[in-house]
Amino acid sequence: MKIDNIEEKVITVIMAAGKGTRMKSDTPKVLHTIFDKTLVGYVIDAVNKTGLVDENYIIVGHQAERVEEYVTKNYQNTKTVLQSPQLGTGHAVSMVLSFLNDFKGEVIILCGDTPLITEETLKDFIQAHYNKKSDLTVMSAIFENPTNYGRIIRNKDDSLNSIVEEKDATLEQKLIKEVNAGIYCINWERIKPAFSQLKTNNAQGEYYLTDIIKWANEQNLNVNAHILKNNEEIFGINSKIQLSEATKILNKKSVIRLMEEGVQIVDPDTTFISPETTIGADTLVLPNVYITGKNIIGKNCKIGPFAHIRDGATIGNNVRIGNFVEVKKSVIEENSKTDHLSYIGDAHLGKNVNIGAGTITANYNALTKEKCKTIICDDAKIGSNSVLVAPVRIENGANVGALSVITTDVPENSLAVTRSPMKIFKDWVLTKIKKDN
Ligand code: UD1
Ligand code: CA
Repeated sequence: MKIDNIEEKVITVIMAAGKGTRMKSDTPKVLHTIFDKTLVGYVIDAVNKTGLVDENYIIVGHQAERVEEYVTKNYQNTKTVLQSPQLGTGHAVSMVLSFLNDFKGEVIILCGDTPLITEETLKDFIQAHYNKKSDLTVMSAIFENPTNYGRIIRNKDDSLNSIVEEKDATLEQKLIKEVNAGIYCINWERIKPAFSQLKTNNAQGEYYLTDIIKWANEQNLNVNAHILKNNEEIFGINSKIQLSEATKILNKKSVIRLMEEGVQIVDPDTTFISPETTIGADTLVLPNVYITGKNIIGKNCKIGPFAHIRDGATIGNNVRIGNFVEVKKSVIEENSKTDHLSYIGDAHLGKNVNIGAGTITANYNALTKEKCKTIICDDAKIGSNSVLVAPVRIENGANVGALSVITTDVPENSLAVTRSPMKIFKDWVLTKIKKDN
């Protein structure tokens, strides 16, 4: 989609100060993860991917330090702003007033606990706001069961009149199925004065963000609601049950996209593949595969059953990653095989490498707490049950005998074996029986 009339970049305010009591967790709600990415991470990525955003402000409160640490470590264009105490959504957004004193342009307001929101929907929404020359646009959704959401009250000409919270709604208003999705696009200069006018004369005694709508209408500003096409996207996470539901929704989208791109997935119900994993056509993914994080997997590979790829894998064409194999932050070049019971971590495997069953790359030094690299060059063969103690390098065409513990580099085309030589005791059984009798 092309947004042609947007001249300046927008700023976002992401509300994430709430307690998330129903998660029953020591971890702040927005730091819970789906496929190893935090809920707030999904929201920040979606807004950043629109390419329209200059800066994000995250409103933090409950366990603010942890959210702040995560956000500043992972997102350069994102600041956190403390809201303490938390007096409602209107109060939350007003925390950025001092930072955006001179800002002119649009501010997008979102929640940090809706990981399913996509950049396409956000672009569509922002475009609608510009098309209507709107001063304030609210994203709305039609729900068969609108319970707990704020209801959208429209004027006769379809423009937005107000939003009434469930707890403040009349019986008649409760029948309205169009709800506030909790995403807003506002012209900051024109709407900013509303924040100092908010009051707490409502059922929850909170400063409601939704009251800016009534205010804007009183000022004769242009106020609209834009209906969301895909309701799923504003699904908010409040409990571990909903976290698992959101995981399934994301996974379903991910496996369907991959199958459309030519990947064969035998059982999408037991296969979990993160949205940030790409897989080439004709790769076969067998049941009970779990792939998190960002990965690139080539064509004609065979993955699983029961394989675990943990982030940062780059896997070439015709590679086999078989049962009970875990791969983490590793490159595996084309035609290489690690078919059974192995751990490949912080490793680089060249082409045509064969990894025997039970091979481990020992990448972690528990004393120094360092992660080290294992490099296995083209055509090398690693015998079963070997341990490659990193940092270590196996040169082109080298072989490692089964059950070896490799602690130094192995030169090209050589054989390295560390196990004790085999002994044969001839007629040992017969001698033993004779002796015992
Ligand atoms: C809000 C909307 C409601 C809408 C719904 C959509 C208001 C008054 N109501 O209701 O119309 O249908 O979202 O999901 O806005 N938060 C803070 N600081 C606070 C309070 C909340 O940062 O002081 C954050 C929360 O962490 C959460 C978000 O704001 O991410 C929404 O708050 P919540 O209390 O869940 O709002 P709802 O009552 O669901
Ligand atoms: Ca509330």
